[in-house]
Amino acid sequence: MLRTNNCGELNISNVEQIVTLSGWVQKNRDMGGMTFIDLRDRYGITQLVFNMETNAELCEQARKLGREFVIQVRGLVIERESKNKKISTGEIEIIVDSLTILNKSKTPPFTIEDDTDGGEEIRMKYRYLDLRRNPLKENLMLRNKVGFAVRSYLNKMEFMEVETPYLIKSTPEGARDFVVPSRMNPGTFYALPQSPQTFKQLLMISGYDRYYQMVKCFRDEDLRADRQPEFTQIDCEMSFVEQNDIIEIFEGMAKYVFKEIKNIDFKEDFPRIKYDDAMRLYGSDKPDIRFGMQFVELNDVTQNKGFKVFDDAELVVGICATGAATYSRKVLDKLVKFVQKPQIGAKGLVYVKCNEDGSFKSSVDKFYSQEDLKAWADKVDAKAGDLILVLSGDTDHTRNAMNELRLEMGERLGLRDRNNYAPLWVVDFPLLEWDADNERFHAMHHPFTSPKIDEMHLLETDPGKVHANAYDLVINGVEIGGGSIRIYDKDMQSQMFTHLGFTKEEAQEQFGFLMSAFEYGAPPHGGIALGFDRLVAMFGGTDSIRDYIAFPKNNSGQDVMISSPAGIADGQLEELGLTVNAPEEK
Ligand code: AMO
Repeated sequence: MLRTNNCGELNISNVEQIVTLSGWVQKNRDMGGMTFIDLRDRYGITQLVFNMETNAELCEQARKLGREFVIQVRGLVIERESKNKKISTGEIEIIVDSLTILNKSKTPPFTIEDDTDGGEEIRMKYRYLDLRRNPLKENLMLRNKVGFAVRSYLNKMEFMEVETPYLIKSTPEGARDFVVPSRMNPGTFYALPQSPQTFKQLLMISGYDRYYQMVKCFRDEDLRADRQPEFTQIDCEMSFVEQNDIIEIFEGMAKYVFKEIKNIDFKEDFPRIKYDDAMRLYGSDKPDIRFGMQFVELNDVTQNKGFKVFDDAELVVGICATGAATYSRKVLDKLVKFVQKPQIGAKGLVYVKCNEDGSFKSSVDKFYSQEDLKAWADKVDAKAGDLILVLSGDTDHTRNAMNELRLEMGERLGLRDRNNYAPLWVVDFPLLEWDADNERFHAMHHPFTSPKIDEMHLLETDPGKVHANAYDLVINGVEIGGGSIRIYDKDMQSQMFTHLGFTKEEAQEQFGFLMSAFEYGAPPHGGIALGFDRLVAMFGGTDSIRDYIAFPKNNSGQDVMISSPAGIADGQLEELGLTVNAPEEK
């Protein structure tokens, strides 16, 4: 080893020892008679001292060391005069008697400090340097720790990790596939898995009950802070289980990981809320329940008073923002602008201030008397000092806009504390989702999800009303995981494909292998997949999963460090039997 110790472990108990350390030059301070160097590695920082009086030649050499040079030093551990209580090695320093430069470094394009001067783009280009900084290092250490906790729990529960292939064919998780051309089979393509869904079901048929896999999934979809084109799932499947069994086992996993990572004990069961209720009360299938501010439908007290906007609306819905009656006109105007943003799309926002003297001041005083407004306040349970915010329109859009407004108000009122965790299960999702553009139903989770048996008869008459044995784990407004009980009967699976608009031939061509497998003793089964990157980011307290992935893609799906994606050589294209149409000039 080129070191006896690392840069984070020496302390007062090591005084008088001769040690050898290797690492990077974090800082070089020339104080005239003395030179101090902060030597850094993954484990920490140790202060090195070079003394002009006792070893002038060595001190001269040390002065010339640039930032990020890789060096090896040997020296004596001594107690420091001015101690640094902030770091674990802060009570000691090393009087160096030998120095070797293991490698030089160019001046890095940004400072390798916690608060760096480097912009996002340059840090992505030199990601390997960015990873030397503490914040990213801590994120990756957290990722490792969460992964370890997950694996320990699953192993304890007798889950067995099995790998499944990456070169497969399309899996229907709702995104576009990334495809890979096959040289050996010209003109044909593999698809990279959007998830190992069909394989894990096949493993149940093979009898490998309690499967899991920490697995890369690939989805070509629009990117957001919590979406990457390749991401990692904790993918699980079990046989001979019902929905409740899966929820209990994975709630157990979440609790175990919370305890290991945050030392938080969740003693109570996580709340469960039906999808329909989540939409009605929060306008979202991933409600943030760290705070209340539930929706209250106000049609009965707001309509037929001559205010056309409300009279014409399918839904009039309000929330009560506690203590926000003090908001100025300027802030209220900002809220109006907020809901009118194109991505939210509300036409306007009605507000009612509940004054301390019991009177009301609203943006619709022209249409509503004080008694009318009192009825609103009673309905949303608003007290003096509160602010009522009301939106109206068609149900889906209005709920969606109110969800955004509720989250914004939660943020403004400081109710979304990152150190407060509020997990819940959303259950009873609809089986199908109407796609108005293509005038057809899509599977809300995926086509292998089993309908609730007692609602099966509605599949023929009112398919949109059928619910599924499907569930999501939501924490602080983020969908951490989702799963379902599966169909395991060939005829039912084939019926489901028909409802989803597949012809018999298409279903056979795409999923014939699974339906055939169902004919050889498929056990009842179900499972779940958790987004590992999202889980880690949640523990880390930020929204962007990119910060928890060593080498992520940017928002355009590019890795600017390795310049990917990139063209390929003509020879490669030829081998693959491909021609590329020149992309249109932008
Ligand atoms: P689903 O599509 O809900 O289910 O995915 C499971 C979880 O994976 C995470 N996730 C993502 N994370 C980062 N970037 C993405 N682009 C991304 N897409 C999804 C989410 C999500 O909850 N096969 C089913 C699971 C099952 O039924 O067992 C599936 O993949 O946290």
